[in-house]
Amino acid sequence: MRITKFVTPEIIFGVGALAQIGESALRLGATKLFVVSDQGVVSFGWVEEALKHLKEVGLSFEIWFDVTPNPKDYEVLRGTEQYLASGCDAILAIGGGSPIDAAKGVAILAANGGIIQNYEGINKITTPLPPLIAVPTTAGSGSEVSQFAIIVDSNRKVKMAIISKSLVPDIAIIDPVVLQTKDPKLTAATGLDALSHAIESFVSLAATPLTDVHALNAINLIARHLRPSAACRTNLEAKTAMAMAALQAGLAFSNAILGATHAMAHQLGAWLDLPHGETNAILLPYVMEFNLNACPERFARIAEALGEQVHGLTVWQAAERAIQAVQKLARDLDIPEHISVEHISEEQLTLLAQNALRDACLITNPRDLTEKELYELFKRVLREEGGNSSV
Ligand SMILES: [Fe+2]
Repeated sequence: MRITKFVTPEIIFGVGALAQIGESALRLGATKLFVVSDQGVVSFGWVEEALKHLKEVGLSFEIWFDVTPNPKDYEVLRGTEQYLASGCDAILAIGGGSPIDAAKGVAILAANGGIIQNYEGINKITTPLPPLIAVPTTAGSGSEVSQFAIIVDSNRKVKMAIISKSLVPDIAIIDPVVLQTKDPKLTAATGLDALSHAIESFVSLAATPLTDVHALNAINLIARHLRPSAACRTNLEAKTAMAMAALQAGLAFSNAILGATHAMAHQLGAWLDLPHGETNAILLPYVMEFNLNACPERFARIAEALGEQVHGLTVWQAAERAIQAVQKLARDLDIPEHISVEHISEEQLTLLAQNALRDACLITNPRDLTEKELYELFKRVLREEGGNSSV
């Protein structure tokens, strides 16, 4: 058996877990917290709640809220300047994947210097980072437990994947109550992002028994609870199940890495500034179909986890059921089948394919992809507004 590794932060999970923020920061030796979030999370009052818990234990803080969706290299640079001038000695990130990834970017530069581009790829971080507490508010990104940070290179217009064990937060605090302020559209998109994490990590070339158990459970939870969670803001049972699903999907992909869905989504996100969750939700069935040849048995197990009746079916028939079930789930949640763009040229498709080919997530995709195959996949997914086809 090959050697495997599994990394995870300390995880505090459950209704009311937010109240653990202050005590957690004290245990990490923090004296002043750099609080990273965005305006949306602030407007729902979750940052105020977090600050209340810091004040309760006598901790001071400085706040930085200038993070946009798909965090950019220049934002990370500005955040780092503020962090270094603030006298803070620990970071608290509260929000979706964007504020948590931006906080990781600040932690990298504060401890290691230079520009964020220096750390693109795998294991480029050499100096330990300041302590990091992550509080997710979306049940999707998994960044609160992952060794990933995704930052946009604004000049190259690509999303850089930074992968290092140093990026695993010290403590993840997951409170399902926070999910009650999410609107149905965001709930659906982030839930399907979590599904793409679970499915991509289950068929990943780096999957292990430890990642499989989390991936399969996440798939099952999402199949049963994402529809009710998106249908009712106050359904705390569904919110709790989705928070667990996103957490387990995060543990799975952090350790097994991802695949072509994310390699492609990163390029579309950087080019069009599209929301990550919805982009993955649209791409996932196309990539599953492409990957089917590589590991039909794995897809058959995914179908079972999705609750499909596979008894008496051949492996191939069961595997195809997995794709159909994901398509139906996306349809039920009003996710479109294509990504609309104003105009798409052959040059743009070629550039997307070339950049996707270089994305670190492609390394673990179960089926090899050529630039031409990526080009064709992008062509199938993109749709010109008002027209029926891309190019
Ligand atoms: Fe994702």
